[in-house]
Amino acid sequence: MPNLAANLAGIRSPNPFWLASAPPTNSGYQVMKAFDAGWGGAVWKTLGVPVINTSSRYGAIHYRSNRMVGFNNIELITDRPLADNLREIEEVKKYFPNHAVIASLMVETKKEWHQIVKDVENAGADGVELNFGCPHGMCERGMGSAVGQEPSVLETITRWVKEVATVPVIVKLTPNITDITEPAAAAALGGADAISLINTIQSIVGVDLDNFAPYPIVDGQSTNGGYCGPAVKPIALNMVKNCAQHPKVGIPISGIGGIENWRDAVEHLLLGATNVQVCTAVMHYGFGIIREMISGLENYMQEKGFEKLDDFIGKALPNVKTWENLNLKYKVVAEINAEKCIGCQLCYTACEDGAHQAISLPGNGSRIPAIIEENCVGCNLCSLVCPVEECITMVRKDDGKEHETWKDYMAADKAPTQFNDDRAGGKGHWVPEPAAALKQ
Ligand SMILES: Cc1cc2nc3c(=O)[nH]c(=O)nc-3n(C[C@H](O)[C@H](O)[C@H](O)COP(=O)(O)O)c2cc1C
Repeated sequence: MPNLAANLAGIRSPNPFWLASAPPTNSGYQVMKAFDAGWGGAVWKTLGVPVINTSSRYGAIHYRSNRMVGFNNIELITDRPLADNLREIEEVKKYFPNHAVIASLMVETKKEWHQIVKDVENAGADGVELNFGCPHGMCERGMGSAVGQEPSVLETITRWVKEVATVPVIVKLTPNITDITEPAAAAALGGADAISLINTIQSIVGVDLDNFAPYPIVDGQSTNGGYCGPAVKPIALNMVKNCAQHPKVGIPISGIGGIENWRDAVEHLLLGATNVQVCTAVMHYGFGIIREMISGLENYMQEKGFEKLDDFIGKALPNVKTWENLNLKYKVVAEINAEKCIGCQLCYTACEDGAHQAISLPGNGSRIPAIIEENCVGCNLCSLVCPVEECITMVRKDDGKEHETWKDYMAADKAPTQFNDDRAGGKGHWVPEPAAALKQ
């Protein structure tokens, strides 16, 4: 059997699946139940000066079914007394010494940071995670994402924590920023042992049309919340990749955002995460999803011949390039499997109105559309809207021998003429930096 043991900056856990800091890690009862179910680690619900929370605090986006694709919350950090949490952390570590228990922290002053780090270390926490990501409620008080959005402040607070911490320090980043690598690099500069990302994305999930207030409604009013769940996975994956590839970051990454199953987790790992954390999926389906996550990961590793996580962590990174390095000679064309086609003609409508008019209707009583190969640019739209699995596939048509990129075009000075406009300064190729074009 492959070995699932994980090691994030010295924090060991029996597998790479941790619960993210959130309601599922609010108490010792929940964390012990999760460990019993098979979770490898848990980041405790953020500790600090306990706050009062609102009643009605979650909202969601449901897409054509009851399945939540996006989840929104206006919840703050723990509303339980610190002493209770510390006692329960100690208890969990007594029963589960080999599982990872991380204390998520958020306080204000240097003195408070020093004190709370000592408190959770005394309770037996294996590491601390600094919550510089919460985008509602706490940031208005100068904490959470207010810190994550100011790399120099983030670096300073990380240094404060490192002055006293003897366990690894993870800095949790906010995605509510233009370039995630800036706070990630600041965390590394401040001495962080790892980063975790993403926390939630500032959001309003919807507005009550009769009562004129966004969800979740608190006595007729609301506020922006933090968005998470399956909908945010693409944003999280891109940010994890950006941090993993950036030379100034260079510390391990705990990947968070939209993970529901083993496949989502493997995607994070392939893009450079050392382990993963899960919140919304557990709030939706419960701790039991870990069974499928573990067996799925084991099967995947066996199938691929991976003995340990390090065999594939970051394995997709060399294949993530900037656009100018992609092979423009690669050519795919859609192919419709007439036996699978149910004749809904969604592909026809999408291609006709929204893409390249590369699908025709037979007009002979049949409902099976046909591809007009010379018009098909291989954009994938028809295969994406098709409701039948593997009915429309994209088939390679080039011979695989030619390889030419945009970079090659630029180097050979043979860019297509439509780019040979004013923005290119008459140089025959695109000026990559918009600011450079404006200066001319
Ligand atoms: C209701 C709720 C409460 C949360 N509370 C915290 C928190 O106290 N501290 C923290 O660092 N992140 C908190 N988060 C963010 C999660 O830890 C996680 O970063 C985010 O939900 C993305 O992961 P997901 O897509 O698996 O949910 C919370 C998320 C939710 C939904």
